[in-house]
Amino acid sequence: MAQSAAKTPWDNPKMVKLMQFGAIITSKPAKDMIVQSGLPKKAAALDKIVVLEQACGTAPLAKLLLETNLLDDTAKSNLEITCADFAPNMVEYVKREIDRSGWKNTTAVQADGMDTKLRSSHYTHVFVEFGPFVLRDSSKGLQECHRMLKPDGMLSTATWQYVPWIDEFKPVFKNNPEFPPFADGTPEAAKRNLEADGFVDVESKAYVHDVAFSVEDVVSALPAILSMIQNTLWTQEQRAQYDAPVRQAIEALLVEKYGAEGMIPWSWEAVVATGRKPS
Ligand SMILES: C[S@@+](CC[C@H](N)C(=O)[O-])C[C@H]1O[C@@H](n2cnc3c(N)ncnc32)[C@H](O)[C@@H]1O
Repeated sequence: MAQSAAKTPWDNPKMVKLMQFGAIITSKPAKDMIVQSGLPKKAAALDKIVVLEQACGTAPLAKLLLETNLLDDTAKSNLEITCADFAPNMVEYVKREIDRSGWKNTTAVQADGMDTKLRSSHYTHVFVEFGPFVLRDSSKGLQECHRMLKPDGMLSTATWQYVPWIDEFKPVFKNNPEFPPFADGTPEAAKRNLEADGFVDVESKAYVHDVAFSVEDVVSALPAILSMIQNTLWTQEQRAQYDAPVRQAIEALLVEKYGAEGMIPWSWEAVVATGRKPS
């Protein structure tokens, strides 16, 4: 069933602030995705580099492609980027960022990752960072990427192998068996998913990045963090009943373990899976 923008927590205006906080972590695997896709090495051989950043949030991939030296100036002048997200507030944020930063040949559009209405066989590279698992049907999302890629085009996805807050928050779920479920993934699963949806030469690897956060920041980001799980694994009734108690229990756990002004030394493991659409 198609998700409605109005019904997803991503459309809450507070989400943009929380996604900016998230980009402190996601800009690191975003770089891994670009390198593993082979784009920097192959850019010189391409007349036009046509990129789609799917489920873009605050568009960390576009930022890296446009503002770092991962691509040289010639490649940047051949670059065209579409940033797509289902949440209008994310799209508005990226539009403002495009104007503010003067990003050339870059547009932001609202599109559902499972049915984008964007052009078929058009993009040389599609990046979906921490997007597959927020979709109700992630296979449908991968099939959409396959449809939009040119033959020989590259898909690059990132999911989490190890998200430190999952283990950190686990005692809360163990001590309260009535709370709804929790999840994470592996490189093998990401590889299987891309192959099942028609991609070849699939490479799937884990990357580890250490990023510490203050207890205060994590507590303020809890609505965003939990909504990623609630969105896919909890029913509406479970959300209504357990959102507040789960948040309060997690905050109590963090304050007890690290102190209200403490830092949490988290290590993040992302799985980057890349695959080519056959020619
Ligand atoms: C975990 S965030 C990742 C954002 C960004 N890719 C990053 O790595 O920082 C997931 C994003 O997916 C978007 N999203 C959720 N459901 C979607 C859907 N059905 N189609 C497209 N985007 C969706 C959300 O609005 C959010 O921006």
